[in-house]
Amino acid sequence: MQVFHDVEEYRKTWLNWRKAGEVIGFIPTMGCLHDGHISLVKAAQKQCSKIVVSIFVNPSQFSPDEDYDAYPRTVDNDVELLKKNNVDAVFVPSVNTMYPSGITMDVDKQEGAFVEALGVSHQMEGKFRPHFFRGVCTVVCKLFNIVRPDKTFFGQKDIQQTVVLRRMVRDLFLPLEFIVVPIYRQEDGLAMSSRNRYLSEEQRKISCVFSQALLKAKALFEQGTRDRATLIKVATETIEAEKSVRLEYLSLAHPTTLEELDTIGEDGAILSGAMYVGTTRLIDNVTLGFS
Ligand code: PAJ
Repeated sequence: MQVFHDVEEYRKTWLNWRKAGEVIGFIPTMGCLHDGHISLVKAAQKQCSKIVVSIFVNPSQFSPDEDYDAYPRTVDNDVELLKKNNVDAVFVPSVNTMYPSGITMDVDKQEGAFVEALGVSHQMEGKFRPHFFRGVCTVVCKLFNIVRPDKTFFGQKDIQQTVVLRRMVRDLFLPLEFIVVPIYRQEDGLAMSSRNRYLSEEQRKISCVFSQALLKAKALFEQGTRDRATLIKVATETIEAEKSVRLEYLSLAHPTTLEELDTIGEDGAILSGAMYVGTTRLIDNVTLGFS
């Protein structure tokens, strides 16, 4: 497995792969890798002959009051884990490499080129993290241009991220295939996340109320319930029965426009939300009527 820090170095390998007709699969990450990330690697290996993973904690998707400095960084372990899983190349750029014009988290003082996918970035997660998807689109667009994959793999765990990035790929005519991989959950249902390591043993146990609530609503949907009020009520009540968590929001939205729905139609819906366990913010979702 090769580890790249520079763009030029990687490009030579890319050219050789291209000449040999390899199908290049790409998985962008912020590191602190877990089985959820590895499930993306495994999905990519089924469809691609060369796998590239990037590890980059992207400053532009954090707001000044979020956990950019504290975000867990475990690059050596990550590289070992990727090697064990037969990944072909890891791209670990510096902040200077990714942001040649420099970067500050203060959006009013930023310089350089940025990418936005308007219409799907301001609601749900975007409402609570206003510049988040601008940061995600910008870094992912840069990474696509560097890595030049044939296919890219993202987790349903961050479902709005997949909707936003699909929109970016479509609207900017980016020449790659965008594939979404189902959420990888622990046995008790908790969606794997790098931030789960902030949870105490007790908090970890409590956290599975989130997936239980979403699955309860999904079961109702599968029995025929289509109205927002009933589905949101059952999920909210299940979460709020656990007194020590704080529900931030629940959304029932159209799968591609992300408009909030009163009734679920033929296209189905995304039921998603965020909740706090102590100071740790968790997100989760289920798809209703589509996958
Ligand atoms: P990160 O949180 O490291 O996630 C990298 C990829 O792994 C994302 O596509 C995410 O949805 C997926 N993933 C995380 N946990 C998962 C789980 N339990 N099951 C399935 N997939 C899971 O998402 C980011 O990084 C960043 O925003 C990034 C796209 C790298 C841009 O900086």
